[in-house]
Amino acid sequence: MDDRSWANSVLSKLDAKMTYGVQKAQTLDGIPYTVQGSEWKSNGIGWWTNGFWPAEMWQMYLATGKELYRAEALRAETLMDEALKNFTRLHHDVGFLWLINSGVHYALDGNADSLTRMLFAGNILAGRYNPNGFIRAWNDNNDGTRAGWSIIDTMMNLPLLYTMSAYTHDPRFALMAKSHADHVIQNFFKPDGSVYHIVCYNAETGAIEDTPAGQGCAPGSSWSRGQSWAMYGFMLSYLHTGDRRYIAASRRVSDYFLSHMPEDMLAPVDFCQSAEPHLIDNCANGIAACGLIELAKAIQDEAPEAAESYMNAARALLRALDEHCADWTEKTPAVLTHCTSAYHDEAGHHIAMDYGDYFFIEGVRKLAGETRLFWKPLDFAK
Ligand code: GLY
Repeated sequence: MDDRSWANSVLSKLDAKMTYGVQKAQTLDGIPYTVQGSEWKSNGIGWWTNGFWPAEMWQMYLATGKELYRAEALRAETLMDEALKNFTRLHHDVGFLWLINSGVHYALDGNADSLTRMLFAGNILAGRYNPNGFIRAWNDNNDGTRAGWSIIDTMMNLPLLYTMSAYTHDPRFALMAKSHADHVIQNFFKPDGSVYHIVCYNAETGAIEDTPAGQGCAPGSSWSRGQSWAMYGFMLSYLHTGDRRYIAASRRVSDYFLSHMPEDMLAPVDFCQSAEPHLIDNCANGIAACGLIELAKAIQDEAPEAAESYMNAARALLRALDEHCADWTEKTPAVLTHCTSAYHDEAGHHIAMDYGDYFFIEGVRKLAGETRLFWKPLDFAK
């Protein structure tokens, strides 16, 4: 079956499943994160994944035109205002929270409140920039223990800063984003092309002090979701800046990822994990597929054979999710069954997670022909 036919058939299944999921969500006083029994479970307002649920709704709204999805996106966006009021507890994931949520809402209908939310979030992210060249990731108890911690996931929040510069015509934000991305090129790559999850800088001097395990299995290991954040994150920096060094960086980590994938094309949680327990992470499949599709498009003219091979890999990653890890029944409101929060978090092994579903939907919609990029919403009108 060609990509478009396959993607359209999956979108029909997604529409049926998501319609059910939205009805369940409307009885929840919160935003779906995972599933408990047969019900959605929220993780509180301000949890870093909150934006993926409204983003799923916008993806489905654009795919189907159904008002149900738009209304649910607005419900979630409004609930999230609580997090902006308590902004001192916010963190680097404000791009995940508001770019693909309020940024997309603003792009679609010019909603002024959504623009304010996005600009507020962008200023918070800019406020986390350390002049040693990187963006601070996580918070601590105001004891400075994580003041110099930079993580690979931040690559996916940089599009909010590029968008800030595009909107304000002020390069400060994009300069911070580029500086961060360049530090990642310089300091996160290992000789085999994989990336660390965490690099701990000395917050005063910028010297590297440690590279702990983070969500992977051991220090120096290769957490698959971290590899996929880098694959897609570098492509998004390329798409915002036109700087082809970011394509090269994405390609380097993509080659590592693909050369370490098992035959069944289901990403392990960590490429360095032992054979047992056999842990997989469906989120890494979807994120990597989205990155590979953008990579293939970007190198199509200069390297058509490599582009075709990246497209084949993206296709296989998404089809593996549909074939082996998607629950299309009403036993659960979520789609993917084998997302994993972290290697050492047993309760978070092989569960449903909203961003797993989000990247699966985004990838399927790309294969169905969607070219609007939720990570660059100001271009929607172009
Ligand atoms: N730290 C974000 C993630 O779990 O990928």
